[in-house]
Amino acid sequence: MNTTIQYIKQKCPDNIKIGIVLGSGLNAFCNSLESKISISYNDIPGFRQASVKGHKGEFVSGSLHNHNIICANGRFHYYEGYKYNDVAVIIDVFKALGCDLVIMTNASGCVIKEWKVGDLMLINGHLDYSFTKSKNKPTIISDGWYDNSLLSKVIEIAREKNVTLREGIYTWTTGPSYETISEIEEIKQLGGHAVGMSGLPEIERIYNLNMKMIGLCCLTNHASGISGKELTHSEVVEKAQNSHTDFIKLLNAIIEQIEIN
Ligand code: HPA
Repeated sequence: MNTTIQYIKQKCPDNIKIGIVLGSGLNAFCNSLESKISISYNDIPGFRQASVKGHKGEFVSGSLHNHNIICANGRFHYYEGYKYNDVAVIIDVFKALGCDLVIMTNASGCVIKEWKVGDLMLINGHLDYSFTKSKNKPTIISDGWYDNSLLSKVIEIAREKNVTLREGIYTWTTGPSYETISEIEEIKQLGGHAVGMSGLPEIERIYNLNMKMIGLCCLTNHASGISGKELTHSEVVEKAQNSHTDFIKLLNAIIEQIEIN
């Protein structure tokens, strides 16, 4: 890890306090950065390559509203065969660079029929529906994980910028296949609002490393059985790209208004 961090550090600006994990199709946010530099995962000693379509596999660093920030454009998934602890290596990099806040984003399926495809959702709790740690039915985890004042601030920013921002429970499934109709029915009963194949290993690492977190889901489709339409990964990437105007607007405003210690 030391050579990995040294290599990344020497390419990035100093004093980076915000790390952003960009999900499938959400990489256009990087265009907002000034004095941008890119570091391909392939060029980093001891680091891995991202292999999922729509994920580029690079860190992009630069400045925005007087903050130096780093984005991970492409992440690692449990379904690619990584161990649970290795999936969150991007968060370890953010921590080693000195980040205090991580904005975790992903493309997710929407479990609520009345919400629209393209809406964004702020995560205020989660369900681990992966069954990787326990075979029992999961319960909602939220207490102590999601900072209420940070959540309120993001909601206020979204309101001010006229961006529809739902709030809800994110559900992690391992993938790589989309869920069955009965799995989605169960997730709904358990209290889930959004479902995705990434994020929870990262959320857990952020929590364990005592960093602040904002989790944003881009609802790219209605989950299986909710709208009756079949899902494809290319549709998910396309929808994520279509809703990036609001996503970029919100992310920009968060960076502009958030207070970092
Ligand atoms: N399920 C799981 N992961 C996803 C979905 C979904 O419906 N959409 C985007 N990522």
